[in-house]
Amino acid sequence: MAKHRIAVLPGDGIGKDVLEAAMIVLDELKLDAEYVYGDVGWEFWRHEGDPLPQRTTDMMKTTECCLFGAITSKPKEEAAKELDPSLAGKGFVYFSPIVRLRQEFDLHTNMRPCKAYAGNPLNYKDGIDLVVFRENTEGLYSGVEFHPLPEDLKKMLLEKHKKMGKFRDVPCEDIALSCRIFTRRGCQRILKDAFEYAKKNGRKSVTVVEKPNVIRETSGMMVFEARKMAVQYPEVELWEANIDAMCMWLVKNPLDYSVLVASNMFGDIISDLCGQLVGGLGFSPSANIGDEYALFEPTHGSAPKYAGKYKVNPTAMLLSAKLMLEYIGENAMADKLESAIARVIREEKFRTYDMGGTNTTLEVAEEIARKL
Ligand code: NAI
Ligand code: MG
Repeated sequence: MAKHRIAVLPGDGIGKDVLEAAMIVLDELKLDAEYVYGDVGWEFWRHEGDPLPQRTTDMMKTTECCLFGAITSKPKEEAAKELDPSLAGKGFVYFSPIVRLRQEFDLHTNMRPCKAYAGNPLNYKDGIDLVVFRENTEGLYSGVEFHPLPEDLKKMLLEKHKKMGKFRDVPCEDIALSCRIFTRRGCQRILKDAFEYAKKNGRKSVTVVEKPNVIRETSGMMVFEARKMAVQYPEVELWEANIDAMCMWLVKNPLDYSVLVASNMFGDIISDLCGQLVGGLGFSPSANIGDEYALFEPTHGSAPKYAGKYKVNPTAMLLSAKLMLEYIGENAMADKLESAIARVIREEKFRTYDMGGTNTTLEVAEEIARKL
């Protein structure tokens, strides 16, 4: 029996291209693993009315972790139009599989390292080395939303909060409400992962990125919990920044920062910003981590216009595989893989289009494999 059992979900579009690249490298590393391929994505939505069939999540539950490519996702009305005619009008509603996986496996921590590898022409500045910890299951993306605002809910809000008064005369039909739900446990979990990471990796600071001066209750809870937690980590400094100012500081002085931690939406925003500082989507890996399971995926989507063309940069996917190797305790392989990636970037010979080169996805992966 293999030492590791790993679910592999290529998904749609370039998800398939970059996962093929990841397999070249994992095979070369001779990772002792059984790979179990699973169905996910648009084709399964169209033909089965479910982009994430039950058989896939059942299979995943028999594995240690998952390597995920990317999926195509569309708003529910658009998705409904593409459903196979035999399924139309039968009550199938589209949900993003990746959001569902995060919820179903309680993958509460989204970790996104953003590192400027020497020689990457797309680096905004050399030396950038940021790690974003984004809360992954609650906050403004909890999905508790209303439109129109139910009458009884409006009445209750009017009774409970005087600031609701200014909306008294607005018809419910003209009010949309999205709830930003934070739980103390949710805040503590993401903060703990950020502080633990900083401690283990000798990082000097953790910056909590919120907006407690305006969003008093939710951001306020996160910052309060951060201050409490910081006491347990005397070797790590806690810095506090507002999300808007942070976007400015990250562009102005990205080298000043190290580990960043934020709730779901603010983490989403700063991780895209940080990703772009180090070369954009082709260089942005991510780990979705829970207490029992983890899923590793590049931050990018399925980029339909490049699907099957083997043009895109496999680095984000390969760095995601590196995070997976660390998660399953194969640290030596993880280090080897990162060194090989860094070397190929530094040597400037094998490059995909985004770096100004003409090499294919697989040529870059094969060159990285040769360097292992
Ligand atoms: P996208 O990330 O798929 O691509 C946007 C553009 O970024 C591409 O056209 C390409 O120019 C560039 N790009 C992306 N990955 C690259 C790589 N590895 N190397 C070089 N360049 C790369 O975002 P888009 O076009 O907004 O979305 C396409 C589909 O992907 C949508 O259906 C969207 O919902 C879905 N999506 C899925 C995600 C996931 O699976 N987690 C995340 C983001 C989007
Ligand atoms: Mg995003």
